Amino acid sequence: MAQPSIYRQLLDPANRADPYPLYAELRKTPVTREDDGTYVVSTYNEIFALMHDPRVSSDPRSRLGKAGAAAAPDQEQPGVPLAFISRDPPEHDRLRELAMRPFGPPCTPGRIDGMRPWLAEIGTGLIDKFAGKNRVDIVQDFAYPLPVTAICKLLGVPLEDQPRFRRWADAIIETVDPTTGTFEQRMRKKDEVQAELGQYFSHIVDTRSRQPGDDLISGLLTDQGPHGPMSREDILATANLLLVAGHETTVNLISNGMLTLLRNPTVLDRLNREPGLIITLVEELLRYEPPVQMRTNRATVADIDIGGTTIPRGAPLALVIAAGNRDSSQFADPDRFDPARASNRHLGFFGGIHYCFGAPLARTEAQVALPQLARRLINPRLVADPPPYRPNPELRGPRHLFVEYDGLAPATQEEVAAVSPGRST
Ligand code: HEM
Repeated sequence: MAQPSIYRQLLDPANRADPYPLYAELRKTPVTREDDGTYVVSTYNEIFALMHDPRVSSDPRSRLGKAGAAAAPDQEQPGVPLAFISRDPPEHDRLRELAMRPFGPPCTPGRIDGMRPWLAEIGTGLIDKFAGKNRVDIVQDFAYPLPVTAICKLLGVPLEDQPRFRRWADAIIETVDPTTGTFEQRMRKKDEVQAELGQYFSHIVDTRSRQPGDDLISGLLTDQGPHGPMSREDILATANLLLVAGHETTVNLISNGMLTLLRNPTVLDRLNREPGLIITLVEELLRYEPPVQMRTNRATVADIDIGGTTIPRGAPLALVIAAGNRDSSQFADPDRFDPARASNRHLGFFGGIHYCFGAPLARTEAQVALPQLARRLINPRLVADPPPYRPNPELRGPRHLFVEYDGLAPATQEEVAAVSPGRST
């Protein structure tokens, strides 16, 4: 039997723990065609070019089926419309701009930075619970609850509903996995789950319409900007998108971060001595162990000549971010984890018009969380290396990260101040 292609091997969960040698193989041919017609792009310059190419569409309806007809289900049925991650200009730009107004600069510059003390408080509370134990699962006990609490606060949804929307978020994340059925099946499944999640958000939107708060959904409902407020349907789609996009990705950044620090104890010590290192360290993590390893949601809307190949119109693309992030044409000594790397134009948050909307929040969460873990766990060590991974090749991260330690250092005065009663949250 013929050996499966390198891309096929990458999709195999057996290779999840260390896909990097396969990425190196893949980069030897910048653009390859799979039997199913997918074009796999693995080198930095080619991925970068396609991220910025207006002939590449993120709209699932741009894919052509075998017979040449639009293959994806028409998601403009009544219900929850496509969110801006799945739209092209001009609608993408309009919706993204509206969503950005209550989220960040220029209209709401302090929102994310203002969450810093509050994030420190959440992190401190989670680590305090490690007291009296000598073993924790960093994924379940820390990396998961922190971002979920943050996205709930941002959206203004009750944290106690978390078990319900965790199921929906997990189901949607599964539809991102290119090994779980055909593209059409995955889109249909995503539609179904998004409709359920939309019903959930519908109640929240009703409540916030009657009584707006300081959260993002209230901000979208009451926005008086030049374009007026976002439509109710688009608010539901945006809330769905933010809840899901803000979940698993940041969990993986924190889990991959702790794993990398434990594999590189000198870096962990250095971080404790030089807290300012965290800024470049987080960027290096996004390059070295990117939580989003590839995107398989795009298709070409015209023939594109790239990397010595002509990708025909309507072809699905797999842009392998994690391979591009280790391309020696862009990064010196790319397989080395260098927490102080000076020039680091990684692709971890993508590029072009779909550059990660939540990047400031994700960065802030990791910048707060990792130093807390590094400082407070005394003599931490991995129980299993590699840890068990979830099967998803696109959103890659450990399922569990068991760590043993000899005790807990007290929180710093700054962290204690963050949790002190009188501080307004
Ligand atoms: C470490 C954590 C994160 C990583 C690695 C990450 C990565 C990415 C990537 C690669 C994309 C491009 C997706 C595409 O166009 O196909 C993206 C887009 C996006 N991300 Fe993130 N993300 C992270 C955290 C977040 C958070 C916390 C939020 C929400 C607050 C968020 C919201 C979004 C949204 C809304 C988009 C769509 C942007 C657009 O289409 O214009 N992300 N992210």
